[in-house]
Amino acid sequence: MSLIAALNRRYATKAFDATKKLPESIVEQLFALLRLSPSSTNIQPWHFIVASSDEGKARVAKGAGGSYSYNEAKILNASHVVLFCSRTQIDEAHLQKVLAAEERDGRFAASPDIKAAAHNTRVAYLNEHQYLKKDVSHWLEKQVYLNMGGFLLGAGLLGIDAVPLEGIDQAVLNAEFALNERDLTAVTAVALGYHAAADFNATLPKSRLAADEIFTVI
Ligand SMILES: Cc1cc2nc3c(=O)[nH]c(=O)nc-3n(C[C@H](O)[C@H](O)[C@H](O)COP(=O)(O)O)c2cc1C
Repeated sequence: MSLIAALNRRYATKAFDATKKLPESIVEQLFALLRLSPSSTNIQPWHFIVASSDEGKARVAKGAGGSYSYNEAKILNASHVVLFCSRTQIDEAHLQKVLAAEERDGRFAASPDIKAAAHNTRVAYLNEHQYLKKDVSHWLEKQVYLNMGGFLLGAGLLGIDAVPLEGIDQAVLNAEFALNERDLTAVTAVALGYHAAADFNATLPKSRLAADEIFTVI
C-alpha cells in the first residue's frame, strides 16, 4: 500500500469485529514497530503490555470504566491491545542496560571512545531535563507518544484497523499491572484488529484543517 493510500485509509476505529484475530505474521511486525521506534539518545523509556487473550483484554479494560467506558468495547472486541507505558525515571541500571545493548549490537566496534560518548550524551540530555528543564517524566512520555505515532502509521500501512486510546484511567492500570513499582506509568493504549460492519466511523470522510492553515513554506 502506498503511503498516501495508508494515510487516507487509516482512521480511528470505533467498533471492532470480535471474531477476527490478527495473524501471527502481522503481530510480529507490530512488535518490530514498537521495538525499533526511535527515541531521544536511544533512551527507550518504555514498556508495552500486549493483550490478546480475553483475560488480558479484560485486565486492560479495567482502565475503561466510569467516564472512560466509551472505550471499553473497543478494548474487549479488538484482536490485540497495546498499553503504552513510560518510565517514570531513568536510573543507572536503565542507562547501563541501554549501553550494554548498544555494545552487544555492535555500535561501538570502531572505537571504545564511542561507547563513552554515547553514554555521556545520554546522561547530558537526561541531566538537562532533570536539573534545568525539570521535565524528565514529560520528556520520557514524549518518546512514548512518538513511538505510538509510528506504530499507528505502521499499522495503517499493514492494513490493520486501530484506534489510539488516551481515554483510559492510568491510575487504575498502574495498580492493575503494578507499574509504579517498576518505575513505569500507563500513558495510552492502542486497540488493533479489524473493524466491525457497524463501525459508523469507517465510512465517514476524513477531516483536517486546510493545508494553507497549517503549512508555512519558506
Ligand atoms: C493521542 C490520541 C488519543 C486518542 N484517544 C481516543 C480515545 O480515547 N477514544 C477514541 O475513540 N478515539 C481516540 N482518538 C482518536 C481521535 O479522535 C482521531 O484520531 C481524530 O479524531 C482524527 O481522526 P482519524 O484518526 O479517524 O483520522 C485519539 C487520538 C489520538 C491521536
